[in-house]
Amino acid sequence: MNRRALFAGLAGLGTVALARRCFANVPLAADKIDMPPADTRAHFVAWMAANRGEDPNFLGQRWDRLQALFQHQDVWGAKNVRAYLLTPREKFVTPANLDRAYVWHYLDIGFGVTITGPHTVARMTSALDVAPGAKVLEIGTGSGYQSAFLSNLTDRVFTIEIIPALAARTRRLYDDLISHGYVEYRFITTKNADGYYGWEQYAPFDRIIVTCGIDHVPPPLLQQLKPDGIMVIPVGPPGAQHVLKIVAARGVDGAIATRRSDIYGGAPISFVPFTRLEGGRISGTHNAD
Ligand SMILES: C[S@@+](CC[C@H](N)C(=O)[O-])C[C@H]1O[C@@H](n2cnc3c(N)ncnc32)[C@H](O)[C@@H]1O
Repeated sequence: MNRRALFAGLAGLGTVALARRCFANVPLAADKIDMPPADTRAHFVAWMAANRGEDPNFLGQRWDRLQALFQHQDVWGAKNVRAYLLTPREKFVTPANLDRAYVWHYLDIGFGVTITGPHTVARMTSALDVAPGAKVLEIGTGSGYQSAFLSNLTDRVFTIEIIPALAARTRRLYDDLISHGYVEYRFITTKNADGYYGWEQYAPFDRIIVTCGIDHVPPPLLQQLKPDGIMVIPVGPPGAQHVLKIVAARGVDGAIATRRSDIYGGAPISFVPFTRLEGGRISGTHNAD
Protein backbone atom coordinates (compact mmCIF):
# COMPACT_ATOMS: atom_id res chain seq x y z
CA MET A 1 0.00 0.00 0.00
CA ASN A 2 1.23 3.52 -0.77
CA ARG A 3 1.31 5.04 2.71
CA ARG A 4 1.73 8.61 1.48
CA ALA A 5 -1.30 8.38 -0.78
CA LEU A 6 -3.37 6.82 2.00
CA PHE A 7 -2.46 9.58 4.44
CA ALA A 8 -2.92 12.39 1.95
CA GLY A 9 -6.37 11.06 1.02
CA LEU A 10 -7.58 10.51 4.55
CA ALA A 11 -6.15 13.80 5.78
CA GLY A 12 -8.60 15.81 3.75
CA LEU A 13 -11.51 14.34 5.70
CA GLY A 14 -10.76 16.20 8.93
CA THR A 15 -9.99 19.83 8.25
CA VAL A 16 -9.90 22.98 10.26
CA ALA A 17 -13.15 23.96 8.55
CA LEU A 18 -14.84 21.08 10.37
CA ALA A 19 -13.37 22.09 13.73
CA ARG A 20 -15.80 21.89 16.61
CA ARG A 21 -14.73 24.70 18.89
CA CYS A 22 -16.47 23.38 21.97
CA PHE A 23 -13.26 23.07 24.02
CA ALA A 24 -10.68 25.73 24.60
CA ASN A 25 -7.61 23.52 24.20
CA VAL A 26 -8.65 20.80 21.77
CA PRO A 27 -10.71 22.34 18.97
CA LEU A 28 -11.44 19.09 17.10
CA ALA A 29 -12.53 15.97 19.02
CA ALA A 30 -10.66 12.73 18.19
CA ASP A 31 -13.78 10.96 16.91
CA LYS A 32 -14.10 13.62 14.18
CA ILE A 33 -10.63 12.84 12.84
CA ASP A 34 -10.22 10.02 10.32
CA MET A 35 -6.45 10.48 10.06
CA PRO A 36 -4.25 13.50 10.70
CA PRO A 37 -2.15 14.37 7.64
CA ALA A 38 1.17 12.53 7.83
CA ASP A 39 2.56 13.10 4.35
CA THR A 40 5.09 15.67 5.60
CA ARG A 41 6.29 16.72 9.04
CA ALA A 42 5.32 20.37 8.43
CA HIS A 43 1.82 19.42 7.28
CA PHE A 44 1.23 17.17 10.31
CA VAL A 45 2.53 19.73 12.81
CA ALA A 46 0.56 22.65 11.40
CA TRP A 47 -2.68 20.66 11.14
CA MET A 48 -2.43 19.20 14.64
CA ALA A 49 -1.47 22.55 16.20
CA ALA A 50 -4.57 24.11 14.63
CA ASN A 51 -6.97 21.22 15.26
CA ARG A 52 -5.74 19.76 18.53
CA GLY A 53 -4.14 22.82 20.10
CA GLU A 54 -0.89 20.94 20.81
CA ASP A 55 2.67 22.26 21.03
CA PRO A 56 4.44 22.21 17.62
CA ASN A 57 7.69 21.19 19.30
CA PHE A 58 6.15 17.97 20.71
CA LEU A 59 4.18 17.37 17.51
CA GLY A 60 7.41 17.40 15.51
CA GLN A 61 8.95 14.89 17.91
CA ARG A 62 5.83 12.70 17.67
CA TRP A 63 6.11 12.69 13.87
CA ASP A 64 9.85 11.92 14.02
CA ARG A 65 9.22 8.97 16.37
CA LEU A 66 6.60 7.66 13.93
CA GLN A 67 9.26 7.48 11.21
CA ALA A 68 11.43 5.40 13.58
CA LEU A 69 8.43 3.17 14.41
CA PHE A 70 8.00 2.53 10.67
CA GLN A 71 11.72 1.82 10.20
CA HIS A 72 11.64 -0.82 12.95
CA GLN A 73 8.25 -2.26 11.96
CA ASP A 74 6.91 -1.44 15.42
CA VAL A 75 3.59 -0.09 14.17
CA TRP A 76 1.34 -1.40 11.42
CA GLY A 77 -2.19 -0.75 10.17
CA ALA A 78 -3.70 2.71 9.59
CA LYS A 79 -5.82 2.48 12.76
CA ASN A 80 -2.74 2.05 14.97
CA VAL A 81 -0.86 4.85 13.19
CA ARG A 82 -3.85 7.13 13.76
CA ALA A 83 -4.07 6.15 17.45
CA TYR A 84 -0.33 6.81 17.91
CA LEU A 85 -0.54 10.22 16.21
CA LEU A 86 -3.53 11.32 18.29
CA THR A 87 -1.98 10.40 21.66
CA PRO A 88 0.06 13.22 23.25
CA ARG A 89 2.82 11.28 25.03
CA GLU A 90 4.12 14.53 26.51
CA LYS A 91 1.01 14.70 28.75
CA PHE A 92 1.87 11.33 30.35
CA VAL A 93 5.55 11.79 31.29
CA THR A 94 6.68 13.56 34.46
CA PRO A 95 7.74 17.23 34.25
CA ALA A 96 11.36 16.16 34.77
CA ASN A 97 11.21 14.04 31.60
CA LEU A 98 9.27 16.44 29.39
CA ASP A 99 12.18 17.02 27.03
CA ARG A 100 12.56 13.21 26.63
CA ALA A 101 8.88 12.41 26.05
CA TYR A 102 9.57 10.91 22.60
CA VAL A 103 12.87 9.12 23.21
CA TRP A 104 13.06 5.43 22.33
CA HIS A 105 13.19 3.92 25.80
CA TYR A 106 11.03 3.77 28.90
CA LEU A 107 11.15 6.61 31.46
CA ASP A 108 10.77 6.82 35.21
CA ILE A 109 7.30 8.01 36.37
CA GLY A 110 7.89 7.75 40.13
CA PHE A 111 6.79 4.98 42.55
CA GLY A 112 9.63 2.79 41.19
CA VAL A 113 7.84 2.18 37.87
CA THR A 114 8.05 3.43 34.30
CA ILE A 115 6.13 4.56 31.24
CA THR A 116 6.81 1.92 28.59
CA GLY A 117 8.85 3.10 25.57
CA PRO A 118 6.91 4.17 22.46
CA HIS A 119 8.27 1.34 20.28
CA THR A 120 7.12 -1.33 22.73
CA VAL A 121 3.71 0.30 23.20
CA ALA A 122 3.20 0.57 19.43
CA ARG A 123 4.28 -3.02 18.73
CA MET A 124 2.21 -4.52 21.56
CA THR A 125 -0.85 -2.49 20.53
CA SER A 126 -0.48 -3.34 16.83
CA ALA A 127 -0.18 -7.05 17.75
CA LEU A 128 -3.33 -6.74 19.89
CA ASP A 129 -5.30 -5.74 16.74
CA VAL A 130 -8.09 -3.82 18.48
CA ALA A 131 -11.32 -3.43 16.50
CA PRO A 132 -13.73 -0.54 17.12
CA GLY A 133 -16.05 -1.45 19.98
CA ALA A 134 -13.79 -4.23 21.30
CA LYS A 135 -13.68 -4.58 25.09
CA VAL A 136 -10.05 -4.24 26.18
CA LEU A 137 -8.49 -4.84 29.60
CA GLU A 138 -5.06 -3.42 30.48
CA ILE A 139 -3.13 -4.62 33.53
CA GLY A 140 -0.71 -1.90 34.70
CA THR A 141 -2.17 1.58 34.06
CA GLY A 142 1.04 3.33 35.13
CA SER A 143 1.27 6.74 33.41
CA GLY A 144 -1.99 6.17 31.51
CA TYR A 145 -0.33 6.41 28.07
CA GLN A 146 -1.16 2.87 26.93
CA SER A 147 -4.86 3.20 27.74
CA ALA A 148 -4.96 6.66 26.17
CA PHE A 149 -3.56 5.09 22.97
CA LEU A 150 -6.18 2.31 23.20
CA SER A 151 -9.02 4.83 23.62
CA ASN A 152 -8.34 5.95 20.06
CA LEU A 153 -9.05 2.39 18.88
CA THR A 154 -12.14 1.46 20.89
CA ASP A 155 -14.63 3.06 23.27
CA ARG A 156 -14.36 0.30 25.90
CA VAL A 157 -11.05 0.38 27.76
CA PHE A 158 -10.63 -0.97 31.31
CA THR A 159 -7.37 -0.54 33.16
CA ILE A 160 -6.09 -1.67 36.57
CA GLU A 161 -3.15 -0.25 38.55
CA ILE A 162 -1.87 -1.80 41.78
CA ILE A 163 -0.18 1.30 43.31
CA PRO A 164 -2.98 3.35 44.95
CA ALA A 165 -1.32 6.78 44.70
CA LEU A 166 -0.34 6.20 41.06
CA ALA A 167 -3.83 4.96 40.16
CA ALA A 168 -5.28 8.12 41.75
CA ARG A 169 -2.76 10.39 40.03
CA THR A 170 -3.49 8.93 36.60
CA ARG A 171 -7.27 9.10 37.20
CA ARG A 172 -6.86 12.81 37.98
CA LEU A 173 -4.79 13.26 34.83
CA TYR A 174 -7.48 11.65 32.65
CA ASP A 175 -10.16 13.83 34.27
CA ASP A 176 -8.08 16.94 33.69
CA LEU A 177 -7.41 16.02 30.05
CA ILE A 178 -11.12 15.25 29.50
CA SER A 179 -11.99 18.69 30.87
CA HIS A 180 -9.57 20.20 28.35
CA GLY A 181 -11.20 18.46 25.40
CA TYR A 182 -9.56 15.01 25.20
CA VAL A 183 -13.04 13.52 25.32
CA GLU A 184 -11.82 10.11 24.10
CA TYR A 185 -10.45 9.45 27.60
CA ARG A 186 -14.06 9.13 28.78
CA PHE A 187 -13.84 5.66 27.22
CA ILE A 188 -11.33 4.61 29.91
CA THR A 189 -12.55 3.03 33.15
CA THR A 190 -9.89 2.84 35.87
CA LYS A 191 -9.49 0.81 39.05
CA ASN A 192 -6.91 0.41 41.81
CA ALA A 193 -6.48 -3.32 42.46
CA ASP A 194 -4.23 -6.33 41.90
CA GLY A 195 -4.75 -7.04 38.19
CA TYR A 196 -3.73 -10.71 38.53
CA TYR A 197 -7.39 -11.51 39.06
CA GLY A 198 -8.64 -9.50 36.07
CA TRP A 199 -11.91 -7.59 36.27
CA GLU A 200 -14.75 -10.08 36.66
CA GLN A 201 -17.45 -7.38 36.55
CA TYR A 202 -16.65 -6.50 32.91
CA ALA A 203 -15.38 -9.89 31.69
CA PRO A 204 -15.10 -11.46 29.19
CA PHE A 205 -12.73 -9.28 27.19
CA ASP A 206 -11.95 -9.29 23.46
CA ARG A 207 -8.40 -8.18 24.18
CA ILE A 208 -6.12 -8.16 27.24
CA ILE A 209 -2.79 -6.34 27.40
CA VAL A 210 -0.42 -6.78 30.34
CA THR A 211 2.30 -4.16 30.81
CA CYS A 212 4.22 -5.75 33.72
CA GLY A 213 6.38 -8.89 33.52
CA ILE A 214 5.52 -12.28 35.06
CA ASP A 215 6.82 -15.85 34.71
CA HIS A 216 3.45 -17.39 33.77
CA VAL A 217 0.14 -16.41 32.25
CA PRO A 218 -2.31 -15.65 35.10
CA PRO A 219 -5.13 -18.25 34.86
CA PRO A 220 -7.84 -15.68 35.79
CA LEU A 221 -6.81 -13.53 32.81
CA LEU A 222 -7.02 -16.49 30.44
CA GLN A 223 -10.46 -17.31 31.83
CA GLN A 224 -11.60 -13.74 31.20
CA LEU A 225 -10.43 -13.77 27.56
CA LYS A 226 -13.18 -14.43 25.01
CA PRO A 227 -12.88 -17.34 22.59
CA ASP A 228 -11.08 -15.81 19.57
CA GLY A 229 -9.69 -13.15 21.92
CA ILE A 230 -6.08 -12.01 21.96
CA MET A 231 -3.80 -11.37 24.95
CA VAL A 232 -0.39 -9.69 24.73
CA ILE A 233 1.73 -10.31 27.83
CA PRO A 234 5.44 -10.25 28.80
CA VAL A 235 6.27 -13.71 30.19
CA GLY A 236 9.62 -14.85 31.57
CA PRO A 237 12.14 -14.41 34.38
CA PRO A 238 12.73 -10.97 35.98
CA GLY A 239 14.26 -8.49 33.55
CA ALA A 240 14.05 -10.78 30.49
CA GLN A 241 10.50 -11.45 29.41
CA HIS A 242 9.25 -12.62 26.04
CA VAL A 243 6.30 -10.60 24.81
CA LEU A 244 3.77 -13.25 23.87
CA LYS A 245 0.72 -12.90 21.68
CA ILE A 246 -1.77 -15.50 22.87
CA VAL A 247 -4.71 -16.24 20.59
CA ALA A 248 -7.57 -18.17 22.13
CA ALA A 249 -9.73 -20.48 19.97
CA ARG A 250 -12.57 -22.88 20.77
CA GLY A 251 -11.90 -26.40 19.45
CA VAL A 252 -14.56 -28.72 17.95
CA ASP A 253 -14.97 -30.31 21.41
CA GLY A 254 -15.79 -26.86 22.85
CA ALA A 255 -12.54 -26.64 24.80
CA ILE A 256 -10.47 -23.44 24.57
CA ALA A 257 -6.99 -23.90 23.10
CA THR A 258 -4.34 -21.19 22.80
CA ARG A 259 -1.74 -20.42 20.15
CA ARG A 260 1.33 -18.50 21.29
CA SER A 261 3.87 -16.47 19.36
CA ASP A 262 6.68 -14.12 20.40
CA ILE A 263 6.10 -10.64 18.94
CA TYR A 264 9.87 -9.94 19.18
CA GLY A 265 10.91 -13.19 17.51
CA GLY A 266 12.67 -14.44 20.65
CA ALA A 267 14.43 -11.24 21.82
CA PRO A 268 13.96 -10.66 25.58
CA ILE A 269 12.48 -7.35 26.79
CA SER A 270 12.63 -6.01 30.35
CA PHE A 271 9.40 -5.02 32.12
CA VAL A 272 8.48 -3.74 35.59
CA PRO A 273 7.52 -6.76 37.78
CA PHE A 274 3.94 -7.99 38.13
CA THR A 275 3.58 -7.38 41.87
CA ARG A 276 1.01 -8.81 44.26
CA LEU A 277 -1.25 -7.47 46.98
CA GLU A 278 -1.12 -9.32 50.28
CA GLY A 279 -3.26 -8.17 53.19
CA GLY A 280 -3.85 -4.85 51.43
CA ARG A 281 -0.10 -4.18 50.90
CA ILE A 282 2.09 -4.67 47.83
CA SER A 283 4.41 -7.51 48.71
CA GLY A 284 6.65 -9.41 46.28
CA THR A 285 5.52 -10.60 42.89
CA HIS A 286 3.18 -13.17 41.37
CA ASN A 287 6.12 -15.17 39.97
CA ALA A 288 5.83 -18.85 40.76
CA ASP A 289 9.56 -19.25 41.61
C1 LIG B 1 5.75 -0.56 32.76
S1 LIG B 1 4.74 0.08 33.99
C2 LIG B 1 3.55 1.12 33.27
C3 LIG B 1 3.08 0.83 31.89
C4 LIG B 1 1.90 1.68 31.51
N1 LIG B 1 1.05 0.92 30.65
C5 LIG B 1 2.33 2.98 30.88
O1 LIG B 1 2.26 3.11 29.66
O2 LIG B 1 2.75 3.88 31.60
C6 LIG B 1 3.78 -1.32 34.57
C7 LIG B 1 2.74 -0.96 35.59
O3 LIG B 1 2.16 -2.18 36.07
C8 LIG B 1 1.79 -1.97 37.42
N2 LIG B 1 1.56 -3.27 38.06
C9 LIG B 1 2.48 -4.17 38.53
N3 LIG B 1 1.87 -5.24 39.08
C10 LIG B 1 0.53 -5.01 38.95
C11 LIG B 1 -0.62 -5.73 39.35
N4 LIG B 1 -0.54 -6.91 40.02
N5 LIG B 1 -1.84 -5.22 39.05
C12 LIG B 1 -1.96 -4.02 38.40
N6 LIG B 1 -0.90 -3.27 38.03
C13 LIG B 1 0.33 -3.76 38.30
C14 LIG B 1 2.97 -1.19 37.97
O4 LIG B 1 2.67 -0.56 39.20
C15 LIG B 1 3.24 -0.22 36.82
O5 LIG B 1 2.53 0.97 36.98
